[in-house]
Amino acid sequence: MSNKIKNICCIGAGYVGGPTMSVFADKCPEITINVVDLNSKRIEEWNEKDLTKLPIYEPGLTKIISRCRDRNLFFSTDIERNLEKADMIFISVNTPTKKSGIGAGKASDLSYVEASTRQIAKHAKTNTIIVEKSTLPVRTADTIKKILFNVDACNDNSEIKKNFDILSNPEFLSEGNAIKDLESPDRVLIGGENEEAINELKNIYLNWVDYKKIITTNLWSAELSKLASNAFLAQRISSINSLSALCEASGADIKEVQIAIGSDSRIGNKFINPGPGFGGSCFKKDILNLVYLCEFYNLREVALYWQNILDLNQWQKNRLTKIVVEKLFGNISEKKIAILGFAFKSKTNDTRESSAIDICKNLLQEGANLSIYDPKVKDIQIENELNLKQNINLETHNKANWNFSKSIQICVEGADAILILTEWEEFEYLDWNMISKKMRKPSWIFDTRCTNNIDLAKKYGLNIWKLGNGKS
Ligand code: UDX
Ligand code: ADP
Repeated sequence: MSNKIKNICCIGAGYVGGPTMSVFADKCPEITINVVDLNSKRIEEWNEKDLTKLPIYEPGLTKIISRCRDRNLFFSTDIERNLEKADMIFISVNTPTKKSGIGAGKASDLSYVEASTRQIAKHAKTNTIIVEKSTLPVRTADTIKKILFNVDACNDNSEIKKNFDILSNPEFLSEGNAIKDLESPDRVLIGGENEEAINELKNIYLNWVDYKKIITTNLWSAELSKLASNAFLAQRISSINSLSALCEASGADIKEVQIAIGSDSRIGNKFINPGPGFGGSCFKKDILNLVYLCEFYNLREVALYWQNILDLNQWQKNRLTKIVVEKLFGNISEKKIAILGFAFKSKTNDTRESSAIDICKNLLQEGANLSIYDPKVKDIQIENELNLKQNINLETHNKANWNFSKSIQICVEGADAILILTEWEEFEYLDWNMISKKMRKPSWIFDTRCTNNIDLAKKYGLNIWKLGNGKS
């Protein structure tokens, strides 16, 4: 259905760019799509013949890659050449929270967006449509515009000033369900100023998305809607997690409360699963962005409101560590704790901002020996996330005691406790008989994900602590 767009270039082959462009290529075989990245290792992995070695684990992705790769979907490090050919360019680069300078710890680091915008200004042809896909602070489109229209590089060999249209098309995919979310989105949001450009992007989506689901807004509304959606979702998790602590104190059961409140159709039963705190690359970053924005506009109360969602999330992680220590007689030094799950949620290999990171660091700080198992996360990722050299106090604990286990059996061998941190389906079918024989007595199971069938463990003499259960 698309008219003019025959060639798309996407800058950034990450968790957003990779799956999004794969679905675009699958749904629009007449459009050539080049996904470019300066990380050559990542591009090599996207081009791997062995599809189990793709850089991202996402259910359904390998099938699409096998259909589209080298047909109309290409992964490359040749940024310049692919920018030159493109009719439409997506910016899907990372936007981490700033580590230093003004707004450190809150504002987004836009250096990757700026660098890619400069590349666009230099190499893209005139009238190319630029689409913001990365989650960005409100009014980033303004920054992009300023760079695009002021960079001298864009006029290297020509007298003619280039023209670009900028659209904001935030991505709402949730990892682990990315393909489903991209194939049947709840809505597609397109913000922009030029109706013709908006329609070009709309026409692409109309190849598989119902027109009623495509919402068009101005640029700033589109940008803010992404931050607001993530903040609302995170707020639901902090709300239910705050109640999990109250349930434990009062003798109620958070699962029963969850069903009761979720049955109100105004509230709904989605996205109120209690857990060890939300992780992932978006929620924390987006709320910090929102807080920064509110402070900038002098809306102190609003900023505080959203900051509390984050504070509660951190509190949840810290209180879980305390519970483990208390139950293990106030001392976990030299005790072995088996960690089941390190990804920030199931069905992904992504560990960014995973609650497991802080919880594991806390436990290591208390002197525990950790054995970590996750079906999709690699040991090198865990090593990088725990960043042990910098974060562990070497005076009190001179050896970072953790190891990576390739199987649950090895992971639980000799353990004093098991801590379930990710809701992987296989943790619902644990062989408690085998596990009880391998663990040291008294053995504890700490379930932070309200796993089904966990009560079975009691049969085998294991002590159970369940998140949000006042009776466990
Ligand atoms: C989120 C948004 O859902 C998505 O729309 C946006 O584009 C990117 O950010 P994602 O981070 O991939 O997606 O995962 P999501 O399913 O939202 O989960 C985020 C975190 O919240 C995970 O750590 C998850 O375990 C936790 N969570 C989620 C809960 O603790 N309880 C729930 O009920 C749902
Ligand atoms: P996200 O979850 O937002 O997709 P990722 O970190 O997974 O974030 O992916 C972003 C990708 O963008 C990375 O692979 C990074 O190498 C790439 N990238 C960042 N800046 C540029 C740039 N200027 N040109 C090309 N690729 C870039």
